[in-house]
Amino acid sequence: MDSAPGSGSPHFHLRGGELCCEGVALPSLVEQFGSPLYVYSAATVRERVARLRAAFGERAHLCYAVKANPNLHLLRLLHDLGCGFDLVSGGELERLRAASLPTARSVFAGVGKEPWEIDAAVAAGILFFNVESPHELPLLAAAGARGGRAVQVALRLNPDVDAGTHAYISTGKDENKFGVAIDRAGAIVDAIVADPWLELVGYHVHLGSQLQTAAPYAAALARVTAFVDQDPRRAEGVRYYDLGGGFGIGYGRGEELDVEAVAQAVQPQLAARGWTPVIEPGRYLLGDAGILVTTVLGEKAQGKARFLLVDAAMNDLLRPALYQAEHPIVAVAPRADADEVEVDVVGPVCETSDFLGRGRRLPRCRAGDLLAVLAAGAYGASMASNYNTRRRPAEVLVDGDQVRRIRRRETFAQLFENEVEA
Ligand code: LLP
Repeated sequence: MDSAPGSGSPHFHLRGGELCCEGVALPSLVEQFGSPLYVYSAATVRERVARLRAAFGERAHLCYAVKANPNLHLLRLLHDLGCGFDLVSGGELERLRAASLPTARSVFAGVGKEPWEIDAAVAAGILFFNVESPHELPLLAAAGARGGRAVQVALRLNPDVDAGTHAYISTGKDENKFGVAIDRAGAIVDAIVADPWLELVGYHVHLGSQLQTAAPYAAALARVTAFVDQDPRRAEGVRYYDLGGGFGIGYGRGEELDVEAVAQAVQPQLAARGWTPVIEPGRYLLGDAGILVTTVLGEKAQGKARFLLVDAAMNDLLRPALYQAEHPIVAVAPRADADEVEVDVVGPVCETSDFLGRGRRLPRCRAGDLLAVLAAGAYGASMASNYNTRRRPAEVLVDGDQVRRIRRRETFAQLFENEVEA
């Protein structure tokens, strides 16, 4: 069984000249569910959860970052694998409700929480809030007082550590809006400790996304412990250290982050303090578990470039346009005799930034051929939009030989129903 070149998951593999997801050939899925199409592999998600469990141990709280891919069926799968959730909006909390999932093992971060979101999450009885701004404290305390129970909070510190990642997905530097700068955090801890309706249970950091080394995690923990050790009140009652997410994957070029190394860099300190690790992986669990299948519409040469026009676009997968992200792209059924050509793979949207990959060597394609954009399971469907009045793709979950459609493709009527009835 050959893994698809560039895939971070062995479950996307070539069989009989066709790319398959687990036991199912992709062309048959497109026939059934249309194109473009998001396809996810359940086995990949299971393996990633197991890898994190092996690295961080059974005691660690694994809170899947819902924003990476909030599909209700994927949330259920992750819940069944023992995950809680990292939420950043009242909408994500509503998703847990819609999926009939418990909220007691979820944490809620967010740099600008609204009063109704705080009230809803307190009422839902989440594990703790990651407080990022002083404005939240009176709202949290009032919600606690109304419910007659102190609200558990972790303070999100901004440790001013460089995550070495794309500027748009770096969050732990002091020029970023996230968390509370350490030199201002003492006063906020004081305010939490002084309020009978708030209970300080931990500290949170999240340095950014797609980190490649363990060093920033270690550096952040060192800054947090230095802060805590300045005043015994900062440690009182503290039992969680939420080290955030950000575990990087390979995208066909690099290695994925060594999660064992991250665990080893933080575990001894956490164990010595009796702090339970909380992790919030998104991309690491879902990124390599999903692909976007797209159909070739045609080809055109212009200037020095040769454009391969496909039916998926920046509205379906925004990462290349927004972050200059490079996702591996492979032919689903490469013809043995096709020569390779260098192409820009572009979609139909009216923007020059609408590309899925530039300067890619691919077997020469004809209209109707299928391509797969790999490592698209995280921040693919979740960031898709209706730009150019395009319907977001259907999504399917493959588990062995079983196929389940987990999201229908939108209809045009759905796209404008709120305007018709405005
Ligand atoms: N925890 C917090 C507080 C976060 O803000 C994030 C991601 C995560 C956990 C999960 O990070 P992950 O493990 O997935 O790296 N749209 C961008 C990524 C933005 C990430 C935002 N926060 C992308 O497509 O690369």
